[in-house]
Amino acid sequence: MPGIEFNQIYNMDCVEGMRGLPAESIDLVITDPPFAINFKAHRANYNRTQSRVMTGYNEIHADDYGEFTLRWMEEVRRVLKDSGSMFIFSGWNNLKDILVAIDDLEFVTVNHIIWKYQFGVVCKRKFVTSHYHCLFVCKDDLKRKFFNSARFTKEIRTENGGSRRYQDMEDVWNIKREYWHGDKKTPTKLPSELIEKILLYASEEGDVVLDPFLGSGQVAVVSNMLRRQYVGFEIVEEYHDFARERLDKGVYRIGDDGSVPVQESMSLFGEMI
Ligand SMILES: C[S@@+](CC[C@H](N)C(=O)[O-])C[C@H]1O[C@@H](n2cnc3c(N)ncnc32)[C@H](O)[C@@H]1O
Repeated sequence: MPGIEFNQIYNMDCVEGMRGLPAESIDLVITDPPFAINFKAHRANYNRTQSRVMTGYNEIHADDYGEFTLRWMEEVRRVLKDSGSMFIFSGWNNLKDILVAIDDLEFVTVNHIIWKYQFGVVCKRKFVTSHYHCLFVCKDDLKRKFFNSARFTKEIRTENGGSRRYQDMEDVWNIKREYWHGDKKTPTKLPSELIEKILLYASEEGDVVLDPFLGSGQVAVVSNMLRRQYVGFEIVEEYHDFARERLDKGVYRIGDDGSVPVQESMSLFGEMI
């Protein structure tokens, strides 16, 4: 197995890829593992214009999900520094297996965050799912990094005179999904604000951020924009190539025809373009 380099992404299985990383070399893991439901990555999911959404999403069968989760998380445990942390996104369907693996591998749970988004899939006979779980875990609760004034210092007030920092540090995060009208995209992606928030609170410039399941490459792209180092894996070639194109060109969004549209979504992105 050749060594895996930082500031690179790889088109390969993440467990195999992580084996190429030295033990205790990673400062922060942010990841959104594949679903264990029959998610077929329909191009028309969430009302997107069909031709611009890439297909090919690699899902895991529900029966294998527990075993699969243990395998990748075990490898994360080996490569994560004692001062590091991991943020794992999960829908409610997969949550049980994620929680069991966290426990079995003796990670310490720091927070169970709820990400509340807008525009869930409309339902007629049940409530609309409009949240995701995000498990914030670490190896050593005393050594992990956390910068509580990274986004707001304690003097900053809300419109009602409350503490803006307190509000930002509550464990329910109201963050909108991004809609990239007219641009290339994969079927699921995390909004940049979500990744930016985690990076600012739990890492420093120069730290190494790992995403074993890159998809469109959001974690690597936003980490790079915030001057962190990145490394990651994506098993679907088309997604990997898309993520690599974004990183190579140093752009956030890419038009369907390869052009670079106005970059409207990322608050800190102004520095890059
Ligand atoms: C939920 S998506 C990640 C989306 C990503 N956070 C984003 O913002 O674009 C999960 C990704 O994991 C990939 N994947 C599934 N199994 C994998 C494996 N064994 N190794 C690496 N990638 C894998 C899937 O192809 C999919 O792109």
